[in-house]
Amino acid sequence: MSHILSAVAWPYANGPRHIGHVAGFGVPSDVFSRYSRMAGHDVLMVSGTDEHGTPILVQAEQQGVAPQALADRYNRVIAEDLTQLGLTYDLFTRTTTRNHYAVAQELFRQVHANGYMVEQTTRGAISPSTGRTLPDRYIEGTCPICAYPSARGDQCDNCGNQLDASELIEPRSRINGETPQFIETEHFFLDLPALADAIAAWLGTRTAWRPNVLNFSQNLLKDVRPRAMTRDIDWGIPVPLDGWSENPSKRLYVWFDAVVGYLSASIEWARRKDIAAGGDGRLDSTGAEAWRAWWNDPTARSYYFMGKDNITFHSQIWPAELLAYSGKGSRGGQPGFFGDLNLPTEVVSSEYLNVGGEQFSTSRGNVIYVRDMLERFQPDALRYFIAAAGPETSDSEFTWPEFARRTNDELVAGWGNLVNRTATLVHKNFGAVPAPVDVQPEDRALLATTSAAFDGVGQLLGGQRLRAGVGEAMRVVGEVNRYVSAQQPWTLKGEENRDRLATVLHTCVQAVADCSVLLAPVLPHSSQAVHELFGGAGTLAPMPRLEEVTDLDDEERHYPVITGDYRLGTDLAPWRSAPVVPGTEVAKPSPVFTKLTDEAIDAEIERMKA
Ligand code: MF3
Ligand code: ZN
Repeated sequence: MSHILSAVAWPYANGPRHIGHVAGFGVPSDVFSRYSRMAGHDVLMVSGTDEHGTPILVQAEQQGVAPQALADRYNRVIAEDLTQLGLTYDLFTRTTTRNHYAVAQELFRQVHANGYMVEQTTRGAISPSTGRTLPDRYIEGTCPICAYPSARGDQCDNCGNQLDASELIEPRSRINGETPQFIETEHFFLDLPALADAIAAWLGTRTAWRPNVLNFSQNLLKDVRPRAMTRDIDWGIPVPLDGWSENPSKRLYVWFDAVVGYLSASIEWARRKDIAAGGDGRLDSTGAEAWRAWWNDPTARSYYFMGKDNITFHSQIWPAELLAYSGKGSRGGQPGFFGDLNLPTEVVSSEYLNVGGEQFSTSRGNVIYVRDMLERFQPDALRYFIAAAGPETSDSEFTWPEFARRTNDELVAGWGNLVNRTATLVHKNFGAVPAPVDVQPEDRALLATTSAAFDGVGQLLGGQRLRAGVGEAMRVVGEVNRYVSAQQPWTLKGEENRDRLATVLHTCVQAVADCSVLLAPVLPHSSQAVHELFGGAGTLAPMPRLEEVTDLDDEERHYPVITGDYRLGTDLAPWRSAPVVPGTEVAKPSPVFTKLTDEAIDAEIERMKA
């Protein structure tokens, strides 16, 4: 039993999210969190929308709305989509809450006080035609390290190195193609060289990470330089230092504040919990300290889920901020109000989900939005595809025929029919779960297989190996199907076969119940339905809810959050075979999964061509 922080990457609130996004951070983190809760751990799963920085600003400008209005719109769309997909956030909030501002500023202040934020004069780019600053990631040019022709001003996607826009060869604006002009400007730089040894020592203890993530992170340390944590921009969190906080055109760098979201969301969750329990919910109230169990206790574990373009920020920038805040770099220092904060246990990064051989791209039109998918298909069908065929350790491809095959052959024909056949036979012959009479070795063998699977599948899901975990659970479903085919319960007619029929069907119900628990982290909607079909009590697979709340420090501000009560009914750790109870009524079932027709799939293919 441990405290487990499930820290999920914060989607930018600059548009609706596509299925590539939820394949990267959403489904993997939810499967892991659901499994961990079922195994009895104390999980805190947090995230929210990332609402500062140029991604928001550029999009707001294009749409002719204020950045906050744009963020308000997409925060709601994204929160609704993630809720409908069944992602069990304890709190999904946003980076524009006053709580987040306060926490991010406290982090900055202490990092500065400890000596790890150094002021430097640097060269910044402006657009000659508008006179406005041109953010690094909107500058493109040739990489000075690997000669890749489309490197961005902040990072080269080919060699992975961090860059400085002024080093690019033949720099040009990605907005209008013009050559940027570089001017002198003051900024605060995070002193990564003073933290590099501490980061290296920590990475050296991280043996369980996916090798590509660990190698990438260790490589980053070969060339560490101070990195700017403030920007010439008017949309973001004010820099909390005298002479800076009043300056409307200097703000914290969006990535400095976004990663702090994991901590601020944990704190917001604790403050809301305090209020629900009758406390005042102030940030410094002792009643609002529940978050500390996940952040200050060194035995707590934390898992960060994201797509691969986010690795640098989670395996270097965020750990650097945490170490600097705690005073653990070569300049020493001491922790601030939040105390000694835990570093990530694991950075779990996925690769990309492609469509038509290339990355999803909103601008090129090859994109499948989560919302469209959920309007036409069951959430569990999408969750299943992502878990079974997602980009876990290498890029993977989404195709409509493969989505149809996975849904129809594996979910409908493999799992759904087993549930349906079993329930129908039980309902027709007994009306309730029969008691076994004379259990045979083959019955015992099947149940030994299903109950043994909890260890194996559990280890895989707990190790974030979804593809293997779901594959193993479906292999067990296959074993149950083979048992049914071999026993042919529909041929067991007449009084003389009644006892054998009861035993076989009891065995089937037990095996189906076990499989539905094994599949619950991946297929929560259908596992809950199966649980209820066989008269199971309580909640096997809890669901999140969208709730309208008021900002804790500004009563004028309201926003939706995702939250939920994820306690698992009477059974606190249902990750095991629980005996089904003979005599429990079983009603006539209706199919759990919907078969996808050729017409529906053809319509999707046509839609993407349009
Ligand atoms: N908004 C970023 C992206 O979509 C992810 C931020 S993750 C955070 O790439 F934790 F840092 F917020
Ligand atoms: Zn490069």
